Amino acid sequence: MLEIDKLSVSYGTVHALQEVDLEIAGEGVLHGVIGPNGAGKSTLLDAVSGRRRPTAGAIRYRGQDITRRSVAWRRRRGMARSFQRTNIFQDLTVREQLSLVAWRLGDDRISDVIEVMDLGDYLEERAGRIAYGVQRRVDVALALIGRPQLLLLDEPGAGLSAEETLRLFQHVRDLVGERRIAAVVVEHDVDAVFACCGVVTVLDLGRHLATGVPAEIRADQRVITAYLGSAA
Ligand SMILES: Nc1ncnc2c1ncn2[C@@H]1O[C@H](COP(=O)(O)OP(=O)(O)O)[C@@H](O)[C@H]1O
Ligand SMILES: [Mg+2]
Repeated sequence: MLEIDKLSVSYGTVHALQEVDLEIAGEGVLHGVIGPNGAGKSTLLDAVSGRRRPTAGAIRYRGQDITRRSVAWRRRRGMARSFQRTNIFQDLTVREQLSLVAWRLGDDRISDVIEVMDLGDYLEERAGRIAYGVQRRVDVALALIGRPQLLLLDEPGAGLSAEETLRLFQHVRDLVGERRIAAVVVEHDVDAVFACCGVVTVLDLGRHLATGVPAEIRADQRVITAYLGSAA
């Protein structure tokens, strides 16, 4: 589905990503990305989704080099991302919010997205007035419009309790399995990642540190030293 080849991104003198290699296998895969603050996780999603031009390296999507393609091009071809900070218009209702994105993408079927993210009870509420946990579900729902094949979620659990984060992750895992899509999820809460992701990648200081199944990552001495510490 996605092949990232020696990807580097710099912000002036800050090397946010340095020669990162990563493969996202494809259908039904929930791939977690963890690492300390500033590791380059959001930058990775920015580069993959087209918001940030890499300084070097290549990104291939379904066998095609997309390194220089626009955000809109990628979105229309099945890549969708959500943001670390809630990205919704506070004054629109949940329905208006979903309809707006659906209209932009020329996809008027929002009913399955409403059902899958369990938003039926909130459609007429202004997005800014619903509970934060529901807002995060709206964020994911917005990314699901247009039936993306590759979902990129940046800390969907930010601001949620551990329990809410786990529930959201279980939701996304089920969705990925049912729709046979792939998802890359950046997350701070390693418990949810280890519980729900089939594959986990660890970034540290802009570099790829390790990729493996949760049990391998938990036991990886470099990962424990750099990130997990006593939390493992
Ligand atoms: N727009 C930006 N301008 C300058 N530096 C940035 C910018 N965005 C991120 N950085 C820097 O790039 C590095 C990686 O950041 P980021 O990708 O946000 O990490 P993470 O999401 O893992 O916390 C950090 O050192 C951060 O300060
Ligand atoms: Mg981030």
